[in-house]
Amino acid sequence: MNLIEARRNRKWIGCIDFGTAMSKAAVVRRKPRTELISADVVPLAIGDRDGMAVRSGLLLPSVVYVSDQGTILFGKEAEDAAIRGERRNRQAFVSPKEYLSTRDPGALDEGLEREIDPTGDFTARKLLALFLAHLLVQAGRAAAIANVPWPVPLRIARPAWDEERAAAGEQALRSLVLQAFAIADRLGGQLSAIGGITHDAARSALAAVMSDRRFLDPAALPDVFELSASGSASVLEATAVAAGAIGDTRRRVVVVADIGGGTSDFGAFMTGLPGRGVLGEVDGSSGILRLAGDRLDVLLKFYIFKQARIDPFDSGSKGVVAHIRANQRAFKEALFTTGQLTIELVDNFLTVRKEDFLASPDIQEFAKLLRSAFHDTLERAVACARENALQGRRTPVEALLTGGGRSLPMVTDFITDPPLPIRLDEALPEIPEGPLDQNFLDLRPQLAVAIGGAVMDLPHQTARVRIRDVADATAQKVHKIANAVTTVRDAVDAAPAVHDVARTANPPPAANESEPARVPSSGRWRRFRGR
Ligand SMILES: Nc1ncnc2c1ncn2[C@@H]1O[C@H](COP(=O)(O)OP(=O)(O)OP(=O)(O)O)[C@@H](O)[C@H]1O
Ligand SMILES: [Mg+2]
Repeated sequence: MNLIEARRNRKWIGCIDFGTAMSKAAVVRRKPRTELISADVVPLAIGDRDGMAVRSGLLLPSVVYVSDQGTILFGKEAEDAAIRGERRNRQAFVSPKEYLSTRDPGALDEGLEREIDPTGDFTARKLLALFLAHLLVQAGRAAAIANVPWPVPLRIARPAWDEERAAAGEQALRSLVLQAFAIADRLGGQLSAIGGITHDAARSALAAVMSDRRFLDPAALPDVFELSASGSASVLEATAVAAGAIGDTRRRVVVVADIGGGTSDFGAFMTGLPGRGVLGEVDGSSGILRLAGDRLDVLLKFYIFKQARIDPFDSGSKGVVAHIRANQRAFKEALFTTGQLTIELVDNFLTVRKEDFLASPDIQEFAKLLRSAFHDTLERAVACARENALQGRRTPVEALLTGGGRSLPMVTDFITDPPLPIRLDEALPEIPEGPLDQNFLDLRPQLAVAIGGAVMDLPHQTARVRIRDVADATAQKVHKIANAVTTVRDAVDAAPAVHDVARTANPPPAANESEPARVPSSGRWRRFRGR
């Protein structure tokens, strides 16, 4: 039986988080969020390869490399090949999601630069479909090892694109996933093999699959996807984080900031009363900024050129320019992890210090824009908290930082120096009770989208929280709102009292009532302390 037509095990839901830099996938048992235990939440090790050392099997670098030796490589293998090819000015196909997020839709079908595809045969759409086919085969292997079913109905996480791009982007993603399953059916285990697939195998699979009109119809093969009431197969990235990482242990408003490679996604969510399993998305709070890790990589590259007085257009600089470009993401991660970076140039070394880079005007501007996007969502969150006081007590506002860029200083500043004069506590991802391995715990904030996107009950399925007076709020008014919530501290301290009041107001159902009693969620979720 082909994978694409196979019956899906509907007891589980899967989510593909096709990230700009790192792709992730997870499956979660189809159960109310509040009843999940850790065994119901399974991230898939789609980055693991037989016989290859990878930094973490739970992350698959979103990279494809069209080699000169007649093969196409994926993930870590593609990254390594690109570093070897840098001196010949060869490049990998990186950040493939950008073709859906920022480029003109027509760019998907145009030929790629010679440095990326020396054959001239592969378009962005074709490489995206091949990459997703690799991801699906890897997911199937990982599911078998983890002893969970595969295939399962899938959701696809996506950024909060504007309306026009959202419709086109959703359709493109769905078609690509269908095409990817069909390619996986043709190439099977070859897609996971070390050494990659041959150009010929890729060409013939693509020729058959890309001409099949069925895959262009979003309604075709609906069982492949976990569809919402409105027929959508996608889930917004910040919404997914909320679904999988905010336990309903007490009433609060949580601002999610998911700082990824291509986009920074924001959203605000309010929990219901403890034990009710209700999570509402604050109306109008979702926001997206196309500024995230990738932009920092580019800014660092130009910073290095400037410091080292390298003219990137000089033919004599070709080698060093290619070296810096091929390693720019790794350089940035090293700089932010260790505080400084030493790079070998032609016949000398350059040392970059984190403080100096952070003080440069471009980075200051980057930080300002990020802060302003966070401010807008926080403003909505504060207004929502104010409107939804429980028993006259203010509702606390917290921030949940996720994504690979969560520990960047301009992001952690959101909490230590909030852009509104309020007390803002950091929310840590909450996880269902049960044994968990350390690798999973370390990566939990980066896996938050994939895990939450596979949770059965997403926040948008509940009534949205309406804010009456923020839409046209002037800055002054918002300032007033913010001041009113300056005492969030009090609300945090008073939380147990709020719970007590809530419990009295909402007693658990009596044992002899016919409705099944809800398991109190406070016993099922624990605060994440893995970083
Ligand atoms: N220690 C670190 N310091 C700074 N940045 C880091 C660090 N570790 C990872 N990153 C960056 O985080 C980004 C990857 O994060 P993540 O996996 O959340 O992104 P993504 O999901 O691929 O992107 P998007 O959500 O935008 O599609 C990359 O830009 C990576 O360089
Ligand atoms: Mg992401």
